[in-house]
Amino acid sequence: MLRNNIVMLIVLLCYSPLSLSNEIDYNSGNTYQGQEITAENILQLTPEPPHELEAKVQSYLKQKPILANIISGADYYNKIMFFDKAPFTLDFQPGTPDRPIVDLYFKTMESYIRQAGLPTKPGQNFVIPLGDHIIKASGFFNRRENINAYLRQTDPTQSYGKTILPAQLEKFNKEVGKTYQTISRVAYWLRLKELKETLNLDRICLPDKYLVHIPGRPLQVDDTNYVVAETALHDAVPFDQTDLVEDPEVIQQLTQAIGYAHLWDINSRNILVSGDKACIVDTEQPNVGVPTKFFLKDLKGKKDEHRGGWDELETNIIRPYAKSHPDIDLSKVRAVKHLMQESIKQA
Ligand SMILES: Nc1ncnc2c1ncn2[C@@H]1O[C@H](COP(=O)(O)OP(=O)(O)OP(=O)(O)O)[C@@H](O)[C@H]1O
Ligand SMILES: [Mg+2]
Repeated sequence: MLRNNIVMLIVLLCYSPLSLSNEIDYNSGNTYQGQEITAENILQLTPEPPHELEAKVQSYLKQKPILANIISGADYYNKIMFFDKAPFTLDFQPGTPDRPIVDLYFKTMESYIRQAGLPTKPGQNFVIPLGDHIIKASGFFNRRENINAYLRQTDPTQSYGKTILPAQLEKFNKEVGKTYQTISRVAYWLRLKELKETLNLDRICLPDKYLVHIPGRPLQVDDTNYVVAETALHDAVPFDQTDLVEDPEVIQQLTQAIGYAHLWDINSRNILVSGDKACIVDTEQPNVGVPTKFFLKDLKGKKDEHRGGWDELETNIIRPYAKSHPDIDLSKVRAVKHLMQESIKQA
């Protein structure tokens, strides 16, 4: 006990700058440069993709029109030819009449994905390496859960993973008709970018992310019309393959990033290390995100919410490292994290 207090005291003395800078408002929730991030303004708030990058991504999609169609997912809303059901309304329960359709639909999707030389499981997120960049687009199942989350607002029985009935999809299409699961990657990135630049978080790296229009699709911003193009970190390794967790400065800056951007999915696959920096690569929203609340509208006027990433940092990164390195004392790192969290909570 005494020892911990001494550690706390030392940290307090060493890390007094933990008192928050007033340049950053940790309760600003979903804003970027003071503006609420919305589907309507996110394209203007996000740096335009360099021309050659846009051209590279769009020619990749033009060369593979069927893959581009799968990535767009616009057809997930439309009845499958010869069948009276849209993919989003298929019943995935085993032994149901839809089973043969489900198998055929996803087998066909898989064959085109394989033809394009990609390992992506049908229905999962696309993470497509393209030279110095990566194309990211959310998959069928994550978007389907966005629709379920919307329906669950008025029908609590529409639980996670439940089949969407044609009438329910029609309701969704009439009232909303679009999702932002892919788009959300850029929204969270804007929050992180703002914090990093304002506070000069020199131990955090954020690969650039851009919204690139899918050729032939409408210009409105939603998952069926844009993909995310991201700078690829060629030398990066999973966080737990390094000893960066032992560095209080890195853990402090990660704690600030999680607090300001409301990150939720913190693990060694989503935080990579390049040089001496922790690189946050996976900024996708939870798939229970309600499309009409994009982006983090439900944070408005609320304090200290959606910071589940703090517990994940402990559970998925600090604790496993402590277990595999019993001789390493992480009490200072944990103290810094704790103090920064407390400061942010009181902000
Ligand atoms: N910018 C990048 N540079 C290098 N590797 C990357 C980059 N972005 C992602 N990766 C690699 O691709 C993997 C998947 O990317 P990402 O985590 O964004 O996709 P995801 O589908 O959301 O993953 P998850 O399984 O966590 O939901 C990462 O774990 C990482 O190994
Ligand atoms: Mg990930």
